[in-house]
Amino acid sequence: MPSASPTVVRTRVGIIGGGPAGLLLSHLLAKAGIENIVVESRDHETIRNTHRAGILEAGSVDLLTGSGVDGRVLVDGDEHAGIDLRFNGESHPLDFRDLVDATVTLYAQNEVFVDLAAARQRDGGDVRFSCEVTSISDVETEHPSFTFTDAEGATTEVRCDIVVGADGSRSFSRRNVEVPGHQDFKVEYPFAWFGILTEAPKSSPELVYANSPHGFALISQRSDTVQRMYFQCDPAEDVSAWSDDRIWSELQRRVDGPDGFELKTGPIFDKTVLGFRSFVREPLSHGRLFLAGDAGHTVPPTGAKGLNLALADVKVLFEAIDSFYSTGSDTLLEGYSDLALKRVWKAQNFSYWMTSMLHTPPDANPFLLRRALGELETVTSSRFGQQYLAESYTGWPHA
Ligand code: DHB
Repeated sequence: MPSASPTVVRTRVGIIGGGPAGLLLSHLLAKAGIENIVVESRDHETIRNTHRAGILEAGSVDLLTGSGVDGRVLVDGDEHAGIDLRFNGESHPLDFRDLVDATVTLYAQNEVFVDLAAARQRDGGDVRFSCEVTSISDVETEHPSFTFTDAEGATTEVRCDIVVGADGSRSFSRRNVEVPGHQDFKVEYPFAWFGILTEAPKSSPELVYANSPHGFALISQRSDTVQRMYFQCDPAEDVSAWSDDRIWSELQRRVDGPDGFELKTGPIFDKTVLGFRSFVREPLSHGRLFLAGDAGHTVPPTGAKGLNLALADVKVLFEAIDSFYSTGSDTLLEGYSDLALKRVWKAQNFSYWMTSMLHTPPDANPFLLRRALGELETVTSSRFGQQYLAESYTGWPHA
């Protein structure tokens, strides 16, 4: 039976959203002695089984391991020192170590979630899964609050000093707090990604990003025996219309070339269409409400910036909250939005650029297709061009 009057929880920071951003913030705050609660609408199993991107910038790995989450990323993660840009049927390897002395780590987002959730549990964190936030109040005051309902229908009110909305692209906190004068910036794309997981050996030592007349393809990995691949498709594509054979021939024709590059195939055990867009909310804060990660901005997946950007927001926000409690000054909190947005717009630019350079819009103007090939040639044929891509891909220094 739903209780008549809600249970009240008093804490310092109320975090809405228990994905990687919310959990990392909770973990960092707890380590600094700042009490907090995390409220997440989905259950642990659902998040664990939601397949997302797999590339961590070195700064993201440092953030996780340096804060004592778990060293599993260092053991199970696969360090990659480059990518292969493929166009006109030819391979163009970029060596990040040589270009910018940096690498990235292939470690799936759901593993990051598992590690963070385990760390919160290990440290006695208050993380409520399967709890739906139903209202947010008083964020313009020093005593904001929100209410949530658990799976049994019982209501709890969280009274805190700071509310963080880390609740993903459909963010309840962004959509249910009136922010006078805010701006939403967005771009829709006329294509989506068809993502698969397959039991097959690696097709290439590095990730392959392929521009082809048939559309974009990305050959990524998960382990020696499981691979992740994507190909550009219509946003309304019906996965049930795609047999394994049809998927393999579509992927293969997008990487075909005179070098005879051949994908290693196997049974496909997951097929999903992933829609995407570019989106930024400005500002990222209002009073005592702060948006972090996808709640405040989303990027198209090309180049895998989404999770890295969310973790970078959390680093900036954690430092601002920590400073607020240790000095009593809200200067850093007030600067959070401007500082976080600097990196957000760099990542927006990079993700938009990679997407437009590598994809083939339906009904594409032939001039624009040739122009994109000219851009790929410009990037790959010069060390400066390669360094520009490599620096962005591996991640700019954290603020
Ligand atoms: C993966 C996803 C990306 O968007 C990307 O750019 C690289 C890798 C992945 O899921 O493995």
